[in-house]
Parts: sequence; structure tokens; C-alpha cells
Amino acid sequence: MFGFYFHIPYCIQRCHYCDFTTFEQSQILPARDYFELLKRELNYKLNLAPTKKLASIYFGGGTPSLVGSDLIVSVIEELAKKDFLIDDQTEITIEINPATVDETKLLHYLDFGINRFSVGAQTFSANHLKICGREHSFQDTLNTLDLLSKYNLNYSLDLLFALPQQSLEDLKKDLSIISSYSPKHVSPYCLTLKDNHPMNQGRPSNKIQLEMFQLIESELNQMGLEKYEISNFAKPGFESRHNQLYWQDYDYLGIGLSAHSYIKSIGPYGSRFWTTKNMHEYTQFFENPLSDSLTSETFTNNYCSTEFELLTESEALTDLCHTSLRTREGLSKNALLQKFPDRLDLVHRRSSKLLKDGLLQETPQGWGLTKTGVYLSNVVFEKFTFLPNELSS
Ligand SMILES: C[S@@+](CC[C@H](N)C(=O)[O-])C[C@H]1O[C@@H](n2cnc3c(N)ncnc32)[C@H](O)[C@@H]1O
Ligand code: SF4
Repeated sequence: MFGFYFHIPYCIQRCHYCDFTTFEQSQILPARDYFELLKRELNYKLNLAPTKKLASIYFGGGTPSLVGSDLIVSVIEELAKKDFLIDDQTEITIEINPATVDETKLLHYLDFGINRFSVGAQTFSANHLKICGREHSFQDTLNTLDLLSKYNLNYSLDLLFALPQQSLEDLKKDLSIISSYSPKHVSPYCLTLKDNHPMNQGRPSNKIQLEMFQLIESELNQMGLEKYEISNFAKPGFESRHNQLYWQDYDYLGIGLSAHSYIKSIGPYGSRFWTTKNMHEYTQFFENPLSDSLTSETFTNNYCSTEFELLTESEALTDLCHTSLRTREGLSKNALLQKFPDRLDLVHRRSSKLLKDGLLQETPQGWGLTKTGVYLSNVVFEKFTFLPNELSS
């Protein structure tokens, strides 16, 4: 499987808690100019794609729904022009924010095959929306969900929790509104902030946060949504294909400011590379790239050395363990043996204390996190972080 991620860094406002590479739309170059550069970057990198068949195209941000739908569809058209195969099986997702999509825009998306919508609802409380610095009202969110429901579309909701002054009761209200829409997919995110961030004031205690995790899981289960990754729940068959690329060791190309890529055929254990976060650098580079198109042979000479890494065995093993342990399927012994035939014993040894402590459990395929392991996943991931000297024998 293979897919593309496109980063669209335009937002109505900068939310107080957000760390993504995004800008208020008036602060950067017009979206039309950015999309020209985006297509140049696509053409620069497209020879790195391992296949022409696309499992997923994802427009993330930022707020991709803020820019004209003609710009979004122009990227899909560019992919088709370059002979990428896009069919009914290709999942095409766009992140949409409340109050940025009307019926005309939605129909334009549908005409060009967009078939999955990720709605940044965050919370339905007017008070908490304000605390987060969001411009839209909860009514805007309801209108967006009504519109998607009218066309019976496949959509996901982002729910942000553990907000300042948020109680379990507040969260229950958010979950009850979500339940009334019966979405196919929900991604709950526990608010994560730097230590000195002003929004840390008045947040729920660790004990309440743990109860919030449990409440979310039980309420979403009652809606028929199963947890298939640490912060993703879906009805059976509606798991995001794009996410599977990240968690199941598939290739992906990220295009646009700050976008990350992973291509397995470059170097013995694959390569990760990413586009600059700096708009000035981005404009400079893609107005005049070093060559017309990258290939895996020219890659190391033409990609800025600070923006790519050839993975070592220890990094690739760490990546495989971390990403697969996040998922319901867990870490499979077969997958491990296939990629790292000599490392099964090492992983076995690492797992034994975690099994004893109840953070890890044996599964028919290998290992998975227990419920406690999910809440303490940082402890598990630390144990499954491998250093080069540990792999020397
Ligand atoms: C790429 S963001 C953009 C989505 C969309 N622009 C929006 O804000 O609705 C994807 C999701 O990351 C989550 N997120 C952003 N900042 C976060 C933070 N500091 N802690 C936890 N989740 C965060 C939000 O739930 C958000 O919907
Ligand atoms: S709208 Fe989304 S991407 Fe934009 S600043 Fe807010 S959280 Fe970040």
C-alpha cells in the first residue's frame, strides 16, 4: 500500500493549544501560489513513489477546507495526470473545520472522489471552544455534521479532551452529542501542552484524565466504535486506510510545508524525510529546485541533508515496535521476523518484564498493549526503544 499526504497550512485563527505548522491565512502567501509550489514539490518527488496505485490521499492541515475546493481538486487532477491510479478503493480524506464548508463546496469534493471527511469538532461546549481560541460555534459544528449526514457520508470526528475547566460531566455532554450523530470514526485527543503553557491552568487532575479516557472508551464502544489504535475508534470496516500506512510500515510521501515521508527502498532500512517548516525556505527551494525530479539514486545529493535520515537497524526496529504496538493488532512476530530475522530474542527479552507488570499481553500473533499499557504507553515505548550498541551482536 502507498499514499500521499498534502499539508495545507491555512487557518482562520491560530488555536491557543496548536503546535502544527499553520498560519492565519492573511499572514502568508495566497493559497493559489502555495498550491503551485505544492504541485512542483509533487512533481519533484513523484519518482520516489513505489507504485502508481494509490491506497490513500490525505489533505491535512491546517484547515484544507478553508481554501477553494478548486485548489484541492487540482491536486487530485495533477495526480491523475501523472498516471497515478485513483479508483473506488482509494480513500481520499480531507480535514474540514466547522463553518468552512457549504453544500456547493461539499458537492465539488464529492465530484472529484473525496470520500472521507475528518471534522475538527473538538468540543461542543461554547465555553471550551472559547478557551481553546476557536472561532466557530458549536452550532457551526452541528450544521457541518447535518450536511455530511444529509449525504450519508463517511466522516470522522476529532474530540479534544482534558481541557481547562472541563469536568467529566462536560465530556459526557460532548459524547452524547457525538452519539446522536452516530459517526463511523472518532479520534479522541487528550490535550497535550508544553509544561509552561498557560492552558495548563485549571486542567483536570491525572485521576480525572484517566477517568476521561475510560469514559470515552466505554461510550464509544456503546456507539459501536472499537478502539483500533491508541487514539482512534471506528465501526468495523471504517478504520482509516491512511493511518494504516503509518502504523503498518507502508510507504508514504508527504508534500507541503512540514510534511513527512517514509520510503523503504532508500537505504537498507528505509528513509524518513520531511519538508521544511519555514515558508520562506519552502518558496525559495521549490521556485527553483536542484533538479527536475528526485530518484532514489539522486536523492541523497539533492535533498537537504538536515531534512532526511537513512534509518539504522536500531531506529527501524524501534519504529516498527512503537507503531505496531499502538494498534489493536499489536506487534506481530511474523512481521518482526521478516524485517529483523535476528532480533526476535531481543524483543522477547524486552517484553518479559512488561508482561509481568501487566502492561503487555501475549496475542495469537505476538504482543499487544493491555488497558493499563495503553495509559502507560510511554513506559512500554521506552522499553522498546533500541540503541545502536544494543544491536551490535
Ligand atoms: C492537524 S489538527 C487539524 C484539524 C483541524 N484544523 C482542526 O483544528 O479542527 C488534527 C487534530 O489534532 C488535535 N490537536 C491539535 N493540537 C493538539 C494538542 N495540543 N493536543 C492534543 N491534540 C491536538 C486536534 O484534535 C485536531 O483536530
Ligand atoms: S484550526 Fe486546527 S490546525 Fe488550525 S490552529 Fe486550530 S487546531 Fe491548529
